[in-house]
Amino acid sequence: MNRKKGLKLFTPVQLGSLNLKHRVVMAPLTRSRSEQPGGIPGDMMVQYYSDRASDGGLIVGEATNISLTARGWYGAPGLYTDQQVEGWKRVVRATHAKNGFVFAQLWHTGRSSHSDNQDGNTPVSASVDASYWEDPNHLVSGPGGWVQPSPHRALTHNHAHARRKNKHNEKMTRPCHPKRA
Ligand SMILES: Cc1cc2nc3c(=O)[nH]c(=O)nc-3n(C[C@H](O)[C@H](O)[C@H](O)COP(=O)(O)O)c2cc1C
Repeated sequence: MNRKKGLKLFTPVQLGSLNLKHRVVMAPLTRSRSEQPGGIPGDMMVQYYSDRASDGGLIVGEATNISLTARGWYGAPGLYTDQQVEGWKRVVRATHAKNGFVFAQLWHTGRSSHSDNQDGNTPVSASVDASYWEDPNHLVSGPGGWVQPSPHRALTHNHAHARRKNKHNEKMTRPCHPKRA
């Protein structure tokens, strides 16, 4: 029996506007390798993505903070400052140089954070639930290691509205297409 018969893994597939040459898609993997302070993608991240990029293949980038209030995992990169955007451009260029594709996975950790990750600000959530930060089973990754989350505050309508209008957020949801880099 031909065991390769019907095997589609290495055949092309259309994904929205992307023509993938094969179906091996790399899952998003938090590596905590952005440069601190600032959560900026640096040389180590450029190397990491370049090593994994393939001709016509898709990488889903690691979870990436959309704002200062989104930061709940120490070392995760952001995509909301100019320096972070420049860092990601280097990652995308390295991926495109191998004719690969990369998506940004956008992240907001909500109440699962600590003020030490957010320049001393209080993490934000949909509503306030003290049992969350009081539970010793809940731990978050901070600059000094694993800690219980700090108390959070409730998101207001004004906050939510401001976030929707954020221009950066709009840009970040577009896929990175090699031909349009
Ligand atoms: C170290 C590590 C980091 C991960 N980071 C992310 C992440 O940033 N975003 C995400 O959606 N999933 C993340 N995941 C989940 C993986 O993408 C994947 O869904 C999970 O490992 C299960 O995949 P599997 O069924 O092929 O084993 C992570 C997993 C691991 C082990």
